Amino acid sequence: MRSNGRKRPNATRPVKAKQPATRCNATSSLPWKLVSTSHQHTDRLGQVIGRVLRGGETIALYGPLGTGKTTLVRGIAQGLGASPMAVTSPTFVVIHEYDQGRLPLVHMDLYRIRTPRELESTGLTEYFSGLTVTAIEWADKGLAALPQDRIEITLHHRAVRRRTIQLLATGPNSDQVLARLRRQYSKTSGASRVSPRQALNREATTRS
Ligand SMILES: Nc1ncnc2c1ncn2[C@@H]1O[C@H](COP(=O)(O)OP(=O)(O)OP(=O)(O)O)[C@@H](O)[C@H]1O
Ligand SMILES: [Mg+2]
Repeated sequence: MRSNGRKRPNATRPVKAKQPATRCNATSSLPWKLVSTSHQHTDRLGQVIGRVLRGGETIALYGPLGTGKTTLVRGIAQGLGASPMAVTSPTFVVIHEYDQGRLPLVHMDLYRIRTPRELESTGLTEYFSGLTVTAIEWADKGLAALPQDRIEITLHHRAVRRRTIQLLATGPNSDQVLARLRRQYSKTSGASRVSPRQALNREATTRS
């Protein structure tokens, strides 16, 4: 796992918001849970997400250090036609903008945000308009400022290369995106039809 000079104890402390904020206020569909068996697999999912976006979406990314949030954003950038190599997980810079793709992409990393004032100073809310797609790592630090309708993606470690990735729509627009994503993903990858055990066996075969 990459350390990034980041310390785990602070990683889970949320920014205090005046208004109580919840992860998901208006779930409009059931969560979609996938198992990724490699960083390429996560990257591919990101690419399909990038291809089905129509503009203006907010993608809130949750999950511990090194679970693949940046990897997924890199795939999204590629799916949008932007350079995936440009996408890094910034240690001190909170916001990166990418304009080379089909839609503008803003990649934020709120890991170091500690207070509502710091959150405000990022100008985060100004990005939630027009066609700009926003992908936000450590979105739990900015919950109070996020649009109601968003795609929530939660990643967890399961093994060295294995992650669970759960996607949830919290409003009608993100619901449509997820519906398109599920259709496209099932066309472009057999992974969604493969059980975790089959996927692992497949990986083991590839490695040997
Ligand atoms: N299935 C997988 N999906 C994504 N990344 C994986 C997977 N298996 C292994 N990895 C590795 O895990 C690391 C994930 O790093 P990444 O920077 O994407 O995580 P992150 O969640 O953005 O971390 P941080 O919270 O520090 O920003 C990479 O080194 C990647 O190669
Ligand atoms: Mg990251």
